[in-house]
Amino acid sequence: MVWHINLLLVFPLLFNFFNRSSAAPVTYNVLSLGAKPDGKTDSTKSFVSAWTAACGSEQPATIYVPPGRYLLQKAYFNGKCKNNAITFHIDGTLVAPSDYNILGNVGNWILFEGVTGVSIRGGILDGQGTGLWACKASGRNCPSGATTLSFSNSNNIVVSGLTSLNSQMFHIVVNGCHNVKLQGIKVLASGSSPNTDGIHVQLSSGVTILNSKISTGDDCVSIGAGTTDLWIENVACGPGHGISIGSLGKDLQEPGVQNVTVKAVTFKGTQNGVRIKTWGRPSSGFVSGVLFQHVIMVNVQNPVVIDQNYCPGNINCPGQVSGVKIRDVTYRDIHGTSATPVAMKFDCSKTNPCSGITLEDVKLTYQNQPAAASCANAGGTTSGLVVPTSCL
Ligand SMILES: *[C@@H]1O[C@H](CO)[C@@H](O)[C@H](O)[C@H]1NC(C)=O
Repeated sequence: MVWHINLLLVFPLLFNFFNRSSAAPVTYNVLSLGAKPDGKTDSTKSFVSAWTAACGSEQPATIYVPPGRYLLQKAYFNGKCKNNAITFHIDGTLVAPSDYNILGNVGNWILFEGVTGVSIRGGILDGQGTGLWACKASGRNCPSGATTLSFSNSNNIVVSGLTSLNSQMFHIVVNGCHNVKLQGIKVLASGSSPNTDGIHVQLSSGVTILNSKISTGDDCVSIGAGTTDLWIENVACGPGHGISIGSLGKDLQEPGVQNVTVKAVTFKGTQNGVRIKTWGRPSSGFVSGVLFQHVIMVNVQNPVVIDQNYCPGNINCPGQVSGVKIRDVTYRDIHGTSATPVAMKFDCSKTNPCSGITLEDVKLTYQNQPAAASCANAGGTTSGLVVPTSCL
C-alpha cells in the first residue's frame, strides 16, 4: 500500500510540471499597445513597448502584428531578456519613412542587438528605398541609408516567410551571430538599386539560408570575413550580382571564411554566379573549404569567378597583391549559359596562389558553343566532363 501514497504525492507534481512547461506563450498585440495600421501614424513606440514587455516576460512571448501597414522609424530591439523564446508573428507590413533623410545615416532601420531565441514569422518589410536610390543615382550628396533588418551579436534566430521590399541599403544583415536560420525569404528590389545586397553574413557561424528568392541590385548573398559553417540551399537569384564570398582582405588583420556550402541555386541574368572576391592588398584573411554544387546558370555574365585583384577606383591598392589565401574550393555539377565568352575565371593572388580547386561535371556554354576559361595563379584538379576545358 505504500506505493499508493507515493503515487498520490508524485502525480500532482508531474501534472504541475507538464502544465507549466506547456503554458501558452503570452501574446502582446501591437494594436492594444497603440500601433495604428494606417501606414501614416508612427507606431515605433508601440512596437518597442511590445518588445520590452516580451523581453521582460519570464515565459515565452509572442508579439503579434495584425494585417495593415505600420510606419516605423528606427526600431531597435535589445537583448538581456528574461526568456529566450520571443516570436514576432507578423501578418502586416512594416513601412520605413518615405523621406530618406529621416533614417539618414543611422545605419539600421530594424535592429536586434544581443538577443537570444528570437523568431520572426511572416511579414513584409518595406524599406521605401526608391527615393534614396534616385538621389544616389543623381550624384547629389545623399545619406548612406539604412539596412532593413539586422541581427547583431545574437544567437538562435529563426526568420521564416519574411519579405523585404526596396531596402535603402542591405536588406538583411547577420553580424556576429551564431545559429541563425533564414528560410522562405523573399527579397525584392530593382536590379539597378545601389548597395541593396539581399542577405549579408559576417563574423557569424552556423547560418543557414534555405528556400529563398532574391531579386535585387547588388549581391543576392554576400559573405564577409569571419563567416564559418554557412549553408545556402535552394535559392533563386536574379536580377542581382550573384552569391559572393567577399569582398575580403580589405583589412590587414581579418578572420577567414571557412566551410561554406552553396547548393541547388539558380542564377538568372545576374552579373555573377558564384564569386570569390578579394582586395589586391595585404591581409591575414583566407577562404578555405567551399562547395558550390548543383548550380544552374541562365545567361550569367560571370558564372564562375575568383577575382583577387579587386581595387575599386584604383585607390590604396595599385601594385599590391592579395594576402588572402584561397584553398579547397569545389565546383560540382554547374550547368548553364554564360552571357559573355569567358564563363570561368580564376584570377588568383601572385603571392598566395589558389590551391585545391576542384572542377567536377561542369558545363557552361556561350551562344551554344563551349565557353572559355582563364586562369592565373590557380591550381587544382578536374574530373568528369568539364566545359570549358580547365586551365588549372
Ligand atoms: C560545416 O558546416 C556545416 C553547416 O553548414 C556543418 O553541419 C558541418 O559540420 C561543418 N563541417 C565541419 C567540418 O565543421
